Amino acid sequence: MKVLVVGNGGREHAIAWKVSKSPLMTKLYVAKGNAGIWEIAERVDISPTDVKSLAEFASKESIDFTIVGPEAPLVEGIVDEFEKRNLKIFGPSKEAAKLEGSKAFAKAFMKKYNIPTAKYEVFTDFEEAKKYVEKVGTPIVIKADGLAAGKGAVVCETLEKAIETLDKFLNKKVFGRASEKVVIEEFLEGEEASYIVMINGDKYVPLPTSQDHKRLLEGDKGPNTGGMGAYSPTPVINKEIEERIKKEIVEKVIEGLKKEGIFYRGFLYVGLMITKGGPKVLEFNVRLGDPEAQPILMRIKNDFLETLINFYEGKDVKIEESDRWVLDVVLASKGYPEKPETGKIIHGLDYVKNVEDVILFHAGTKKEGEFLVTSGGRVLNVCAYGNTLKEAKEKAYEAIKYICFEGMYYRRDIGDKAFKYLS
Ligand code: AMP
Ligand code: GLY
Repeated sequence: MKVLVVGNGGREHAIAWKVSKSPLMTKLYVAKGNAGIWEIAERVDISPTDVKSLAEFASKESIDFTIVGPEAPLVEGIVDEFEKRNLKIFGPSKEAAKLEGSKAFAKAFMKKYNIPTAKYEVFTDFEEAKKYVEKVGTPIVIKADGLAAGKGAVVCETLEKAIETLDKFLNKKVFGRASEKVVIEEFLEGEEASYIVMINGDKYVPLPTSQDHKRLLEGDKGPNTGGMGAYSPTPVINKEIEERIKKEIVEKVIEGLKKEGIFYRGFLYVGLMITKGGPKVLEFNVRLGDPEAQPILMRIKNDFLETLINFYEGKDVKIEESDRWVLDVVLASKGYPEKPETGKIIHGLDYVKNVEDVILFHAGTKKEGEFLVTSGGRVLNVCAYGNTLKEAKEKAYEAIKYICFEGMYYRRDIGDKAFKYLS
């Protein structure tokens, strides 16, 4: 079976790694990938958002199954393009991808179907939005309506910050059309967690739970990023909370989509705040999380390709979860997320490749001659298995000691928030 993975990051490396273990796989392609993925897959030089060219390529090469990593191609309609040509692809249609592609759409959907989330208002006019934040006060959260690579949500502690953010989004339009409209929402207190399921129409299957670390700096300070590290499973989602997430959120989403006449097949990532009043949705993503996918896929024992295909075809599947923990630390470039410096030579990976229980997933890496160099904000994911979370953490941080590139930055507190639940 010929498989195509679409995307360039750590999540896509983890997908390619997992799929490449399947006996069903005969040839693996990646568009466009990174230096890590190119070691296990044939490189296709088409941008993930050039959805028409990708569909033409898949048709010409008779690709049997395509897995999409990032949101942008889904929101662009990659699934619609592939399905027009009768090609099998796992992901939601352009219409269904609006759950991630428009925060205003997602919020209205949640309101309509009584799915717990923060209270909100939508604005396009700067003066009106300013008046609103002056009235309700801070802390408050301002979000660009459209896609902004994980950087479009700003938690504003002060009125000054809120007005500055509104100015950036609505007047200066820093994210172009994506920030012509903003959602302003109530600040929720609690602990964040990620709950990802696979949906095929009426059916859904949960994947292992996880927790991301969205802020750049230790102690959850600094700007939001795509994610600085993750671990799986997370004790923040206990059995009782998980039941509530299923009943109060996932099943209502499925019912709501059905009532709206929107068919959904693909991953659905529910970004949650576990508040005193129960789980509330911060956001929906129509894909696997990055970096959450890396620990999640490392903990899934199934032949994931076989499971995905069976699920795609409407069969019942069961996810077998390892009882080990996995922790993933992201190594980032200096300047990430605003202006990452790139082109720095990466040292030390050969040693880490052979360390037991440690797996490296590349993100922003490429080859320049004989050198491996940085090519993006998030560069590498150092992931480790452990019989306890503490052991996974120790192994990941021990491996990091051998890796370096100029300006390398990482958080030293990945996983720490979980320990209070575990003692
Ligand atoms: P989003 O892209 O909507 O998930 O927002 C990115 C991050 O901003 C989240 O992971 C949270 O850390 C934070 N955030 C978003 N919405 C809220 C909220 N209503 N209350 C508190 N924090 C939030
Ligand atoms: N790690 C958060 C995300 O993938 O959106």
